[in-house]
Amino acid sequence: MSTVVISGSQWGDEGKGKIVDYLAQKADIVVRFQGGSNAGHTVAVDGEEYKLRLLPSGILYKNTLCVIGNGVVLDPQVLLEETDAMKARGIDVSGIRISNRAHVVMPYHKIMDELNEKMRGKGKIGTTKRGIGPCYIDKDDRIGIRVCDLIEREEFAEKLKILLEIKNPILEKVYNAPPLKYEEILKEYEGYADRIRPYVCDTIALLNREIDAGKKVLFEGAQATMLDIDYGTYPYVTASHPISGGVCVGAGVAPKKIGKVFGVVKAYCTRVGEGPFPTEQPGEIGDKLREAGHEFGTVTGRPRRTGWLDACVVKYSGSLSGTDYMAVTRLDILDGFDEIKMCTAYELDGEILNEIPACLKTLAKVKPVYETFAGWKTDISKIRRYEDLPENAKKYLQRMAEVTGIKLGIVSVGPNRDQTIVIAEDIF
Ligand code: GDP
Ligand code: IMO
Ligand code: MG
Repeated sequence: MSTVVISGSQWGDEGKGKIVDYLAQKADIVVRFQGGSNAGHTVAVDGEEYKLRLLPSGILYKNTLCVIGNGVVLDPQVLLEETDAMKARGIDVSGIRISNRAHVVMPYHKIMDELNEKMRGKGKIGTTKRGIGPCYIDKDDRIGIRVCDLIEREEFAEKLKILLEIKNPILEKVYNAPPLKYEEILKEYEGYADRIRPYVCDTIALLNREIDAGKKVLFEGAQATMLDIDYGTYPYVTASHPISGGVCVGAGVAPKKIGKVFGVVKAYCTRVGEGPFPTEQPGEIGDKLREAGHEFGTVTGRPRRTGWLDACVVKYSGSLSGTDYMAVTRLDILDGFDEIKMCTAYELDGEILNEIPACLKTLAKVKPVYETFAGWKTDISKIRRYEDLPENAKKYLQRMAEVTGIKLGIVSVGPNRDQTIVIAEDIF
């Protein structure tokens, strides 16, 4: 099967966009299957940087179809801003296909996301405030608006009326916020509908037909395992399934049709928002990692929390996603470090744990067991072959593969497309 899933192995921002863009050179189709505009995927080509939120990271290739699957929550305003920005830079966006079953992010979702966070006070999740959670809530509550409803004028007008009758009293009485105006939203969203209509289709049928015809398909995960609603550090998670299994429900592709799985692993670790992070380095080391790596959120601009690589988390991700290969990114960010640490086990009350604790109170008590590696203190950004990497860098990577039980597939040594070392030869 010529299908490859790219999934984040940590807490997001591992460099999934860069890896997808690299692999998309050979792909016919790139598919987003979960999340929404909470994602921020940066792709760098020939010194130009593209920040993508809803558009799949295959958009820079002229003949690649870019599918927004049914599992995505689609903010049409963000999508259209992105497509306009792309067009202004000379990028052809005619290859976009939008699932008629994807759910639509509405203004009340964004307002409620923001107000929910305020109401949570100290217990806030630190969401991106893009309406993601509230939109998935409505989907599960069976009061969501899907793209197929949005593009049917009468259907949308009717649904919006009913929904505002539900949402406005909640906004006013629970949140103490002003009600939303029907006519304004109707007009705004009718405008979006007119613009996205040409791209809408049954992407499930499309994908299955193309996969069966032997086309090469990449599935681009957003967020990551530790933000998965079931497997992450709940409740400090997002509302979807970034693990590889998310492809089945979020794109309508059966498990049998999933070929290989790549887990993207940042060579150290970052997290945006609240929640546990066992290998976090709040002091000098964390600051050095943040400065060396310019670790600030793409979507919100927030400083990312930083720490050493947690191989326990990567191993856990690998077992959940059936990861065949690791794509290790940002190894070059560690170039200036004398010493590098990797957490290879968790210890609790003197015992080594075999599982990631579900209970956050227990996870907070866990002591990471570190192994220390000598740094390589060399610029590796121009290296293009694995054998040319410094011995100390190879030792670090090999230990990562050993502890996680996952093979090395790709090593990335810079943001640009060409700064990529490919080890796995059977990707497609
Ligand atoms: P994503 O959300 O997983 O796609 O990751 P982000 O795009 O949010 O964050 C990753 C950042 O690292 C982006 O700015 C990329 O351009 C950049 N990047 C990706 N791979 C590498 C790498 O190997 N080295 C360096 N220095 N930067 C990288
Ligand atoms: P990419 O695809 C990093 C985090 C938020 C917050 C939690 C819930 O670029 O890796 P949400 O808005 O989804 O309800 O927020 O998830 N988060 C991300 N962190 N990278 C992302 O996406 C993220 N998307 C959401 O910071 O902690
Ligand atoms: Mg990101």
